[in-house]
Amino acid sequence: MNARKLKDLFVSFFKDKGHIEIPSASLIPENDPTTLFISAGMHPLVPYLLGQPHPQGKRLVNVQKCLRTGDIDEVGDTYHHTFFEMLGNWSLGDYFKNDMIPWSYQFLTQILAINPNHLQTTCFQGDSDAPKDIESANIWQQQGIDSKKIHYLPKKDNWWGPAGTTGPCGPDTEMFIDTKHAQSQIDFKLGCQIGRYIEIWNDVFMQFNKTADGKFIPLSNPNVDTGMGVERTVAVLNGFSDNYQTSIWQPIIKSIEKLTKDRYIKNPKPFRIIADHLKASVFIISDGVEPSNKEAGYVLRRLIRKAVRTAKDLKIDTNFTVTIGQAVIDNQNNYAGIYPELDKNKQKILEVLETEETKFRKTLNRGLLVIKKLIDKNKNLTGQEAFDLYQSFGFPIELIEEELTKNNLKLNKSDFEKHRQIHIEKSRTLSKGKFSSGLADHSQIITKYHTATHILHTCLRQVLGDHVSQAGSNITQDRLRFDFIHSDKLTDDQIKKVEDLINKIIDKNLPVTVENMKFTDAKKSGALAFFGSKYPDVVSVYTIAGFSKEVCTGPHVSATGQIGKIKLIKQESAGSGKRRIYAKIA
Ligand code: ALA
Repeated sequence: MNARKLKDLFVSFFKDKGHIEIPSASLIPENDPTTLFISAGMHPLVPYLLGQPHPQGKRLVNVQKCLRTGDIDEVGDTYHHTFFEMLGNWSLGDYFKNDMIPWSYQFLTQILAINPNHLQTTCFQGDSDAPKDIESANIWQQQGIDSKKIHYLPKKDNWWGPAGTTGPCGPDTEMFIDTKHAQSQIDFKLGCQIGRYIEIWNDVFMQFNKTADGKFIPLSNPNVDTGMGVERTVAVLNGFSDNYQTSIWQPIIKSIEKLTKDRYIKNPKPFRIIADHLKASVFIISDGVEPSNKEAGYVLRRLIRKAVRTAKDLKIDTNFTVTIGQAVIDNQNNYAGIYPELDKNKQKILEVLETEETKFRKTLNRGLLVIKKLIDKNKNLTGQEAFDLYQSFGFPIELIEEELTKNNLKLNKSDFEKHRQIHIEKSRTLSKGKFSSGLADHSQIITKYHTATHILHTCLRQVLGDHVSQAGSNITQDRLRFDFIHSDKLTDDQIKKVEDLINKIIDKNLPVTVENMKFTDAKKSGALAFFGSKYPDVVSVYTIAGFSKEVCTGPHVSATGQIGKIKLIKQESAGSGKRRIYAKIA
């Protein structure tokens, strides 16, 4: 069973049960200031899980690109990945446990032909917020799962959400495969992803709304949100205890083997890091991000640099990331043709990899010179100096140690570590607040900025011309940021014209309405769309009366007057042929 087959089976199974397939959203959350990347299938669906009607109805299924930055340093073992694909299906206030659990059982045992005796499940054990989930356990038993193979666990294991600090959440039931298939269940340890029991699917029953005062109020129309990791499931189905042995990874690993005398089987760790990091980089670039020292661009930079550094372990010392990037894009079995953004942006992806790798190799060489000078001068390197090299040049600590060893010196590790900790503490304090509130915040201010973005888009077209189109958007509590196609810097006069026009539209207090229609009809009606994205067949179109029409997921204010006054605060280049504007509600 390869990944493509698993994805097809999952999607068709749920399509047969009345679900509509929606395309994977971009890895970069469009209107969520609190996280850098989409990390679960439900993430782009938060507004709909919170009650906004979805244009495609109440039953959805998809394969979502996900990225978890928390796992970057874990990559290298058999199962951690930064980029992965998640299969998911959703009931938006429609079916619930009585359908979902039997479907899960049917999909696993009939479609994937997993022996029912090899399944183990977990259910929520109950606490003062919500009762024990006996209902789910009973349904599992009705499917034929022995009660000994149904385990009750606390909130930390068997509860999902809310997405932010408040909102829909609830107990989940998780499905594990016993890879050893023995009779004895004595050593069943849950949550352990590598040992004998592998979790492959999670059904979340969002039946409560967590309120700001910490209460869990039962929802009248509960949702179902499920997630199945493609990489892990394919490994289990093929009897591999190492995800990287599957056909998802092997073509990439083989392309690395061509560049070195080393072999995956003998020395897997560097191969895994390179394959994972460059695959993640390819996908991040395909969604419009370039390496930088900030946010998503910084994560991208770290991934590429770590891959280049790790390649040293395989004695790969000349530019190679383009070759591996190409292998990811061409991975016929898995990605080719599924994610159009890979083919469409192929040139760009390869260019960005090449440029960043070259830049980093120069940095490494410069760093080596600095080390040499310091050693020549002081006959030593302090922990602070080593940390500065590591921090500002991105110079790998192993290389610093190597250079010192060559000169019969040793790194003062505890001093280095002390400076590293001080730095971590500082960055933590800085990033607190920014990432503390979890997922999407659809508060009033975000909603205002969202509508302001639409107005800005159309005003730019009116002032600069119809060649202007959206190339990216990002909203925080404090400002909106809008990227668009336009080569020249805007003159002061143009900025003023755009700003005045926006505020005129706001003052007119035009009503904002939404309507669902086929994407093809939306385009025919002249609605603007962000053509970097792949759209579902049916979309929501937001209209600002007599002014603009745009394909969008919302949410928006109901009349433009609610926005307040807009001020354009900054413009800059957003790459070749693109400008970026920042605006604020004054
Ligand atoms: N959102 C749930 C998960 O990611 C399904 O596990």
